Amino acid sequence: MKKVIFDTDPGIDDAMALLFLKKAPDVEIVGVTTCFGNGTIETTTRNALHLCDIFGIDAPVAKGASVALHGRADPPADHVHGNNCLGDVTLPVEPMKAAHYLPADAFIVDMVRCYPHQITIVAVARMTNLALALRRDPGIAPLVKDIIVMGGAFGFHGHSGNVSPVAEANISGDPLAADEVFGADWPVTIVGLDVTEKTVMPTELIDRIAEHGDATGKFIGNISRFYLDFHRDTEGMDGMFLHDSSAVAYLMDPSLFTTRRGPVRVVCDGIAVGQTIQKSDRKRITPAAWQNRPSQTICTDVDSQRLLDLHYEVVIARS
Ligand code: BDR
Ligand code: CA
Repeated sequence: MKKVIFDTDPGIDDAMALLFLKKAPDVEIVGVTTCFGNGTIETTTRNALHLCDIFGIDAPVAKGASVALHGRADPPADHVHGNNCLGDVTLPVEPMKAAHYLPADAFIVDMVRCYPHQITIVAVARMTNLALALRRDPGIAPLVKDIIVMGGAFGFHGHSGNVSPVAEANISGDPLAADEVFGADWPVTIVGLDVTEKTVMPTELIDRIAEHGDATGKFIGNISRFYLDFHRDTEGMDGMFLHDSSAVAYLMDPSLFTTRRGPVRVVCDGIAVGQTIQKSDRKRITPAAWQNRPSQTICTDVDSQRLLDLHYEVVIARS
């Protein structure tokens, strides 16, 4: 069983990814940690607690960062995910349980120390909680099994940014945190827009999940309407980019992806803030900014059809 901490800012696509993870074979969700991002930390934490109730996940939910390392937070992405961040679908008044007593970064440290070399962190929000965990206890880095991040963009297939021409939201929301996480000595795989925008989940597939799935599938169908409208209005698409679920898919089957190795830096100020840049290990010359940084893995391509098939089969077959 893979022991997984899901670091998240739910978020419609986060909700979809959490259900995918819950239904994935051979996965034990040992914690859900929340971060500001798609909404305030109050909204994303409340949503994570509700999602655990709705999906039947009994892992602790630890509340995380409310602002980026630089002390500020972007305004919530209401126009993408709705005012309640779950498509404005009505939720029960209160979740069934309260958040864990530890803040997310301390919870991550505890779990990694408790299960050395066993914890995978699937991080689909700002990297703030991970950076804070590293600052709290740098000794955890070699004890983490691996980290799979949804974030960033490297320009493959024409995908280089969604909040600026060169920056993706999870990275631009806390660029310093991402730069610290990618520079630490733990194995990180970055699943960026290069592959998540290459994979479009068609409206018809969401409809099928809603129709043939259990109550959780119907819930995903309901919350997705807002996200589908956003994609239709902004991109003219009849479907949605598959962001956070792509990171879960990497956990389940890395053979879906083509990858490249090399150290990664994040631009932390100026007009390109949030840009992610990898120096490929195949290039002999290493400019100073990339020296003394570990090689990390980025996804450069994906078999989108196989990914969509996997998503559907896992969510439906395990209903
Ligand atoms: C990422 O930003 C958030 O809005 C989504 O949940 C996803 O994690 C995509 O850029
Ligand atoms: Ca997210």
